[in-house]
Amino acid sequence: MQTLAFFSYKGGSGRTSLIYNTIPFLVKKLGADEKHPIILVDMDLDSAGLSYILEADTKTRMTTNKLISSDNASMLSRLKADVKMNPKSLDELDFYNLLAPVGFQFGLSYKEANANKSVLFVPAQPKTTGAGFDMPNNKCIYDFLSICEATGCKAVIFDLPAGNQVTGRQALQRCDTVLVCFRITKQHRRGTIEFLEDNLDTDGQQKYILVPNAVPDCRKKVKVAGGLFNFESVKEDTISKLQKAFANKGLDGSQLVTSMFEGEWYGVPEVGRFKLEEDILYRIKENLHDGEQLLEDEELAYKAYDKVTDLIVGAANE
Ligand SMILES: Nc1ncnc2c1ncn2[C@@H]1O[C@H](COP(=O)(O)OP(=O)(O)OP(=O)(O)O)[C@@H](O)[C@H]1O
Ligand SMILES: [Mg+2]
Repeated sequence: MQTLAFFSYKGGSGRTSLIYNTIPFLVKKLGADEKHPIILVDMDLDSAGLSYILEADTKTRMTTNKLISSDNASMLSRLKADVKMNPKSLDELDFYNLLAPVGFQFGLSYKEANANKSVLFVPAQPKTTGAGFDMPNNKCIYDFLSICEATGCKAVIFDLPAGNQVTGRQALQRCDTVLVCFRITKQHRRGTIEFLEDNLDTDGQQKYILVPNAVPDCRKKVKVAGGLFNFESVKEDTISKLQKAFANKGLDGSQLVTSMFEGEWYGVPEVGRFKLEEDILYRIKENLHDGEQLLEDEELAYKAYDKVTDLIVGAANE
């Protein structure tokens, strides 16, 4: 089972958009289905995003707030022991019906009746009243991951809060693969480099896939103070600083996956329509009528999401 954290040091970098645009590709490439689903968890309790887009009913379903609360710790602990003793699939647990099936929302095929259950969602229940969130019980996250693993889930994906917020920290540390999203502006790059410097997994197990996001068309010349914006030097400078950070920790840098930031790739390009409304390019493409096609920026981003998914799958197989 793959454990994935979508992280960004700064907010608004597009990590939530990256999640819901890569999910349909991941379902296909990991072969997720009703018996072996992908579990998606909105950990951004302070400032939920994914939960507004996927609109799961927080009254009848398991929410992240409940999942990580100490009230649930003994239930999860019992369940973990049970699935260890008596192997079963997730859909044989009562718990299963508390998870919201959301596969259709990603444009996964309506022909396959169970495609909807290939992605199961745990929404956050945003608290906008100022009451704040409960402190996460870290054991709950670990036990939940053990249950998912023992029952044959393909992957658990966490949409983390930005930066070093307490609600995301444990999930971030526990994941095998971290999608590091950032915009290419200075504060995003510097914050990301510094965060990774301070928080690199020194066991050398965790993989970090760099994903610059919403990148303006790098084929165009853009004037900035001091001349033209130098897309190439931003690339080289970021990668070399990150490699230095790995070397400073005695790591050889093989954990760092820079393919989205090399050669012809310059992360996920800016998509015009996303500046007005978030959407899922896979779903849009699946629903095009004859003769219709994606716009150029959308087609490029579609390919980038597909490529990110290859890197995710590749990171697990190395
Ligand atoms: N490739 C893109 N091109 C243009 N706009 C984008 C792109 N990806 C995301 N956006 C837009 O950027 C905004 C922020 O995206 P998103 O919510 O995914 O970021 P986030 O990092 O999850 O933010 P938060 O920190 O609030 O959770 C959204 O309005 C989204 O539509
Ligand atoms: Mg978000």
